[in-house]
Amino acid sequence: MSKDLRDFLEKARAQGELREIDGADWNLELGTITELVAEKNGPALIFDKIKDYPQGYRVAVNLYTSKRRIAIAMGIDPDTPALEMVKMWRARGFKPVKPIEVKSGRVMENVILGDDINLLKFPVPWWHEFDGGRYMGTGHVVIMRDPDEGWINLGVQRAVVHDEKTLGLYISPGKHNRIIMEKYFAKGQNCPVVMAFGPEPLTYLSGCMHVPWGISEFDWAGRMRNEPVEVMKGEFTGIPFPADDEIVIEGECIHPDVELRDEGPFGEWTGYYGGGRQPQPIVRVKAVYHRNNPILASFPPLKPPIPRFGVPVLSAPAIWNDLDNAGVTGIKGVWQLYSGGGRLLTVISIKQEHAGHAKQAAMVAAGGHGGGYMGRYVIVVDDDIDPTNAEEVLWAIATRCEPENSIDILRDCWGTPLDPLLPPEKRRNKDYSHSLAILNACRPFSWKDEFPVVNKASDELRSKVIKKWGKEIGY
Ligand SMILES: Cc1cc2nc3c(=O)[nH]c(=O)nc-3n(C[C@H](O)[C@H](O)[C@H](O)COP(=O)(O)O)c2cc1C
Repeated sequence: MSKDLRDFLEKARAQGELREIDGADWNLELGTITELVAEKNGPALIFDKIKDYPQGYRVAVNLYTSKRRIAIAMGIDPDTPALEMVKMWRARGFKPVKPIEVKSGRVMENVILGDDINLLKFPVPWWHEFDGGRYMGTGHVVIMRDPDEGWINLGVQRAVVHDEKTLGLYISPGKHNRIIMEKYFAKGQNCPVVMAFGPEPLTYLSGCMHVPWGISEFDWAGRMRNEPVEVMKGEFTGIPFPADDEIVIEGECIHPDVELRDEGPFGEWTGYYGGGRQPQPIVRVKAVYHRNNPILASFPPLKPPIPRFGVPVLSAPAIWNDLDNAGVTGIKGVWQLYSGGGRLLTVISIKQEHAGHAKQAAMVAAGGHGGGYMGRYVIVVDDDIDPTNAEEVLWAIATRCEPENSIDILRDCWGTPLDPLLPPEKRRNKDYSHSLAILNACRPFSWKDEFPVVNKASDELRSKVIKKWGKEIGY
């Protein structure tokens, strides 16, 4: 498993999955190169010698946009098939592996306090043309401690640089860090916070996941890594952070009665600037720590179908677990159709065993732990359909999903202000709920045995013909 971000980058380089680019401008150029390279399913990039910045102050992007790089992060063969990777992610299961506390780490190679703090010491990019500022936090983790229960939560929430010593933080309603932050605010207190801007991959990916309330993503990451995360405690907040991270800040979210500042818009994972510009909490930075030649790990959202994650490991395994826990049998695969788009389009492939089986699976996926947030469509297909193949899924919808009786609509589901389809009226009323459709694209169960046979040569016939003709026809 990668020891830290640099170790991961070296492993990616060894697999031909990393490229260096010198001399880009932090102002839009770097973001546009990121988009253009990701669009072609290119390698991860490290930008150095960034305009206005000294050599060594670097930005890394597109770290997990390919299946191969997710596999490298997981420490498995990069050529493992995608659905196999979802199964392997699940198979690691969950048994907390607590972090180990160390006295200090490489992130303390440079300590910057008080008046010397300047967040723009780092080459924070202006990612997209209509963004409302330079977003430092996209590939980072935001770490908070629950004030009542004491456990440590990690989430990934965008952070804009308002000025040299102040960040703005956007956290969607219902996310654990938001609940924690609001607990401090309800007590009339500021909320201590740490942000780590170059975490090791599995700590980052765990931070992106909706891990159940009360379970620290550090414990989860330890399990995924099969070894504990090494953390040290911040002097100002007492909150632990990865000791070998690239850049860490300690600070506090200021009580909203004292100050809020306008934040956004930001080009988001839905492919739109969904959330507009709104007053949001600010973070006053009290300390900055960084390694020599720091790497700002970044993950600007890009318009789908560019995948943000080459394999939807953040939620497909969790949905599959939900299905198992609910006792739904016959599941052959769970997938998110373009994993840049979060849970907008979930596909479940199932071997139908009884009437209502497909619907049962869809309802668990729609409301469960893994898929409960901002899902728009849950599509259930038979087990002859590869859920990772969008074309096959569309064929199943077109030929097995009768709109009149195979589509159900759920209303008032958990959503986000980032939803581009949120009508202005609902947005004004802070009602961020949305509807969700279940598409049963399986052969109708009651007459599935009479359903027309698929027009494709049998596996047996294909192998026979390939054996004889394979060389000539390129098989
Ligand atoms: C790259 C990336 C960026 C994200 N940015 C935000 C964000 O700005 N605000 C937010 O509320 N959630 C954001 N999320 C989603 C949360 O990180 C995710 O839902 C996470 O599970 C929340 O943590 P929690 O389980 O502690 O609530 C982002 C996710 C990813 C993968």
